[in-house]
Amino acid sequence: QSTTEVDLSKIAPGQAIKSQFRKQPLFVRNLTPAEIAEANKVDVASLRDPQTLAERTKPGKENWLITLGVCTHLGCVPLGAGEGENKGPFGGYFCPCHGSAYDTAARIRQGPAPKNLAVPDYTFNSDTAVTVG
Ligand code: FES
Repeated sequence: QSTTEVDLSKIAPGQAIKSQFRKQPLFVRNLTPAEIAEANKVDVASLRDPQTLAERTKPGKENWLITLGVCTHLGCVPLGAGEGENKGPFGGYFCPCHGSAYDTAARIRQGPAPKNLAVPDYTFNSDTAVTVG
C-alpha cells in the first residue's frame, strides 16, 4: 500500500520505533526536550546538508521526527530506532556499514553519507495518528 498509518500514542519521549513505508524502513522518534535543544544549538551553516529541526518537522510538533531509515550513503539501515540500540556519537542514528553518524534531527554529522535521513510527506490526523505518504 502507498501510505502508512503510525500510532504515536505508545512512543515515549526518547524512544524511536521502526515501521515501514513503501517497503522501506521508517523511523518515528519522539524527541525529548534535551534532544530538541541539542538539535537547535547546532550551527546550521556548518552542516553538510544544512537544515533546521523545524524544517524537518511540523510546526508545534517538533518532537516528532519522522524519517526514512535508509542511510543516504549506500542504503543500509542505521541503528538507533528500537530499544538499546546504538544512537552513535551525535545521539541520533548510527550506520554500522561505514560509520555515518546522524544527530537528534537525523542530520548527517560524520562519515560518508552525503545527506540527512530523508523526511517523507506525512500528515497529522490527530495528536496521536499520522499518515505517511
Ligand atoms: Fe551507511 Fe555506508 S551505507 S555509512
